[in-house]
Amino acid sequence: MVACECKCEEPGKDELSKQLELIIDEYRGKSSGLIQVLTKAQELIGYLPKWALISIAKGLGVSLQEVYGVVTFYAFFSLIPRGRHKISVCAGTACYVKGTNMVIKTIREALGIKPGQTTPDSRYTLEIVRCIGACGLAPAMIIDGKDVHGRLEAEQIPEILEQYA
Ligand code: FES
Repeated sequence: MVACECKCEEPGKDELSKQLELIIDEYRGKSSGLIQVLTKAQELIGYLPKWALISIAKGLGVSLQEVYGVVTFYAFFSLIPRGRHKISVCAGTACYVKGTNMVIKTIREALGIKPGQTTPDSRYTLEIVRCIGACGLAPAMIIDGKDVHGRLEAEQIPEILEQYA
């Protein structure tokens, strides 16, 4: 692994680019592999920067417009860096009625970010989503796509966030 210029342990762009080419090699020339390659690329890099999209388009033989079309269609993909922990606050009807706005306000104040933003330390990304299938636990949020926290009250939220610090 090659360290980036800041001497941290993160791989630099050159190293990531080499690893991405290995992923692309599995599907080279096969447009049907686009979603799989994008998924693996995002797992590798953490998001989908423009240079990666260009490499993927070239490698699979599809247009850059087509790649952008897929990336922007699926909420799972991100064109901007995300934090290590993704906080998805539900704004579906049941959660909205039970206090989603309080949850969002409390998280915004605790982390100093708005929905769609990532904290400067790259620890948390806050997003608003529609029903996460936990309406009986409204208001609810899900962290990292797996940890559901429900029946939220403002005073619980700092403690929950601390679990991911
Ligand atoms: S509306 Fe929030 S979990 Fe269904």
